[in-house]
Amino acid sequence: ILGIDTSCDETAAAVVADGREVLSNIVASQVETHQEYGGVVPELASRKHIEAINYIVSRSLAEAGVTFKDLEAIAVTNRPGLIGALLVGVAAAKSLAYCHNLPLLGINHIEGHIYAPCMVHDALPFPHICLTVSGGHTLLVEVHEGWQYKVLGSTQDDAAGEVYDKVAKYLGLGFPGGKVIDDLAQKGNPSAVKFPRPMRNTDDYQFSFSGIKTSVRYFVEKARRAGLLITIEDIAASFQAAVVDVLVYKSLRAVKATGAAAITLTGGVAANSHLRASLKLAAAEIGAEVYYPPMNLCTDNGAMIAGIAYQKYQQGLRDGLSLNATPKGSIF
Ligand code: KG4
Ligand code: ZN
Repeated sequence: ILGIDTSCDETAAAVVADGREVLSNIVASQVETHQEYGGVVPELASRKHIEAINYIVSRSLAEAGVTFKDLEAIAVTNRPGLIGALLVGVAAAKSLAYCHNLPLLGINHIEGHIYAPCMVHDALPFPHICLTVSGGHTLLVEVHEGWQYKVLGSTQDDAAGEVYDKVAKYLGLGFPGGKVIDDLAQKGNPSAVKFPRPMRNTDDYQFSFSGIKTSVRYFVEKARRAGLLITIEDIAASFQAAVVDVLVYKSLRAVKATGAAAITLTGGVAANSHLRASLKLAAAEIGAEVYYPPMNLCTDNGAMIAGIAYQKYQQGLRDGLSLNATPKGSIF
């Protein structure tokens, strides 16, 4: 199956056999285009996708050593995401499906992220809890056999990656900010500043991160005015401690409440060293396993789309050429 994803700022195409064997996984990042704006500019994203899509699809086939004749279906992310960006992938996939007379499958991007850990860990128990944390999403989901989902909670405001990016922008650390903050944090003291842990103790699985971002700004302004000596490493470590504390606490709460035997971590923020380590430690205390995919399957890619599409194809999913892109899309 050829999987295409153009939901945000990566033009991605991959060929995957049997839902797991990644024959190719090509990603063209637009990060340099958006860097000077400190965030993704939707119109620029669409234009870049148009420039890249044909080449990325050709490369994915060439690297996999296949032609359109070898494909069984074409899958494309058609929801959720930036509408102009999604439309490029959907239009490309529809044209290719029509020309080569192949079945077309419209895939939910979040289902792709949730599926990514299952591509490399084939004995994952069901149900398991999946924490999806990226620049666009923060979602805690119970994943059942047959790719049925129960969404336990999501963010009320900023996504986890978004708050990393916004704090990094405020601190003048560039875009995207997750990795920079992660690296700085390793040299800082996580207890230097006690930033708030919004919604940590609420009786649900919801998240809220924008308050932490505001606290960082207020703290830095106050520290500057008072001439306080605090390093950027300490601020990064303290900020990261607050975000990770809430993510881990609520994820563990979900594991305990549902009795799930495993937790999976996926999305760009799954690369975070402190999140990985804390989740592992906390899960070990209650005997739960933590699984995460390699980095190229954590961030946006076409392989996870082709992967979950294979499972949906087995279940009989087929979309016609009337398939449309929608900016929103729940996984229910
Ligand atoms: O999944 P992804 O590539 O794209 C979206 O679907 O959003 O995630 C990108 C996000 C960015 O917000 C980036 O700052 C964050 O993942 N990120 C990290 C780290 N590496 C990437 N956040 C925290 N720690 C990291 N090491
Ligand atoms: Zn994503």
